[in-house]
Amino acid sequence: MATKAKFSLVFPVSSAIFLVMLLKFASTILAADDKVVIKETKMTVYLHDYAGGPNATSLPMVGFPGKLWSLTQFGTLFVSDDLITQGPELTSPMLGRGQGIYMPMSLDGVNAYVSFSLVFTNKAYNGSTIQVQGNSNQLLAVSEYGVVSGTGKFRYATGYITFETLSFDPSTFYSLIRANVSVRHD
Ligand SMILES: *[C@@H]1O[C@H](CO)[C@@H](O)[C@H](O)[C@H]1NC(C)=O
Ligand SMILES: *[C@@H]1O[C@H](CO)[C@@H](O)[C@H](O)[C@H]1NC(C)=O
Ligand SMILES: *[C@@H]1O[C@H](CO)[C@@H](O)[C@H](O)[C@H]1NC(C)=O
Repeated sequence: MATKAKFSLVFPVSSAIFLVMLLKFASTILAADDKVVIKETKMTVYLHDYAGGPNATSLPMVGFPGKLWSLTQFGTLFVSDDLITQGPELTSPMLGRGQGIYMPMSLDGVNAYVSFSLVFTNKAYNGSTIQVQGNSNQLLAVSEYGVVSGTGKFRYATGYITFETLSFDPSTFYSLIRANVSVRHD
């Protein structure tokens, strides 16, 4: 996990450079003290998902009447609250929870829509969130969604996140999912 200040622009600069910056970062709001700081945070985290069993963390909530409520059935709404850790082991330091909804959103069940928050409780990001939202082909080895906002340390966040299922144990319904997050933020 690493945070680095990618762009740290201290004014005054020549007006030509200023104009280029303005065009390039058109959505950047200049702070009152004439400083623009956009940080970039990249992290790899691990989600622990139980899609069934006594301690399920991800379950179908509602679906088409008369259809099997499954991950590939159009219109099945899942809700999940998965442990997020720093490393792949269950005993690795906890970073927070991945809480949100997940829904096959194409008629053929291939594409899934997610609206999902990374809710941090670790020391560095305690109380901060990253909001994931989008639509991706869930049958690919890597699915990618947009990061559309954030709070706390991640205010004004935009970026993307990838999810990869590293393992699945059908006897316990346990999936280990790796998520790579890349965001630019205040
Ligand atoms: C479910 O959680 C309870 C309480 O934490 C625990 O005692 C039990 O072993 C868990 N069961 C499984 C199958 O993980
Ligand atoms: C996170 O914040 C909560 C509420 O402010 C506090 O109770 C908790 O101890 C904090 N956790 C860490 C790891 O700093
Ligand atoms: C995610 O990050 C890990 C390194 O932390 C890398 O090995 C892996 O290839 C990345 N996955 C994707 C889809 O970029």
